[in-house]
Amino acid sequence: KQRVLSGIQPTADSFHLGNYLGAVRDWVMLQDDFDALYFIPDMHAITVAQDPKQLRRRTMVAVAQLLALGIDPERSTLFVQSQVPEHAQLTWVLQCITGFGEASRMTQFKDKSLKQGTDSTTVGLFTYPVLMAADILLYRPQLVPVGEDQRQHLELTRNLAQRFNTRFKKPVGSSEARGNVFVVPEPHIIKGTAKIFDLQDPTSKMSKSASSDAGLINLLDDPKVSAKKIRSAVTDTEREIRFDQAAKPGISNLLVILSSLTGDPIVSLEERYQGKGYGDLKGDVADALVEFVTPLRAAVDDYLADPTELDRILSAGADRAREIASRTVAQVYDRVGFLPPA
Ligand code: TYM
Repeated sequence: KQRVLSGIQPTADSFHLGNYLGAVRDWVMLQDDFDALYFIPDMHAITVAQDPKQLRRRTMVAVAQLLALGIDPERSTLFVQSQVPEHAQLTWVLQCITGFGEASRMTQFKDKSLKQGTDSTTVGLFTYPVLMAADILLYRPQLVPVGEDQRQHLELTRNLAQRFNTRFKKPVGSSEARGNVFVVPEPHIIKGTAKIFDLQDPTSKMSKSASSDAGLINLLDDPKVSAKKIRSAVTDTEREIRFDQAAKPGISNLLVILSSLTGDPIVSLEERYQGKGYGDLKGDVADALVEFVTPLRAAVDDYLADPTELDRILSAGADRAREIASRTVAQVYDRVGFLPPA
């Protein structure tokens, strides 16, 4: 079986609709045919200040959400990044083959540091994409299912993999054959939902760090609140319901959301809403969303009510992850010329 790997940060009280439609929904589907590993990158979360107690709680809520959304711990390996120390170990080695200029070109870093100013921007935020590369390369996945905003980080990951592979072809102390240490992974970005937009500002991606949360749908919010946000979504002054990203970003975003929640193709939605108004569309999107999130909230609460079971799942996940990751780190350490374990 080929392998997939991906992660989602525990930096909010809830995943948002963009996280789900852009990434997690794909993860759920991929676990049928792939050896799947999914994890919560809590080490990424602390690149910006976090309240420690809150981080711990959010990490558990993130795990519960993944389970409630359909990640099956019997089929997939579900773990928390900090419980697998190999992530930090490989990061250091990869940092030492990453160019300073190369890291400086990461647009997500540039955006975030520009907002915060360099004094409150951490070195951790700067090297974040290298940690992400380590997350991936440790497990040698063929595919990494993510939203559009992670594409550049995936490109860096591919470059680092190729660079390491060419620079460190030969084992030093071990008797294994010479050859590539890393698999060069492909991003798996679902075209239609790779970028879900903010309901109030439908040319910007939906994000927890938007200036206002009026355009952000949190899966664990009160469904009534979310329904209201959908009914107040920004649209345009025409009346026609059709998919046109450039001319009608608000309506197009609503069509994408409705289509992915119901499984109805966009063309058939366009037909269904001929002669109908924006209010009809918004009402249906709101209904579909409420139907989706209502049982989800209950399921998350059920998982959270049994922390022993969550711990059991995470401990099994960390064991399996470490089994794979420790072999990669041993190989990497040997290739760069470190002594064998003392
Ligand atoms: P994060 O936690 O910000 O987001 C999790 C996933 O959700 C996707 N996403 C979106 N997709 C569509 N529309 C949106 N508006 C939207 N907003 C977010 C993201 O693309 C992502 O796939 N650096 C990563 C986490 C990470 C990771 C990794 C991912 C750490 N290590 C290794 C893959 C492999 C991040 O911050 O995602």
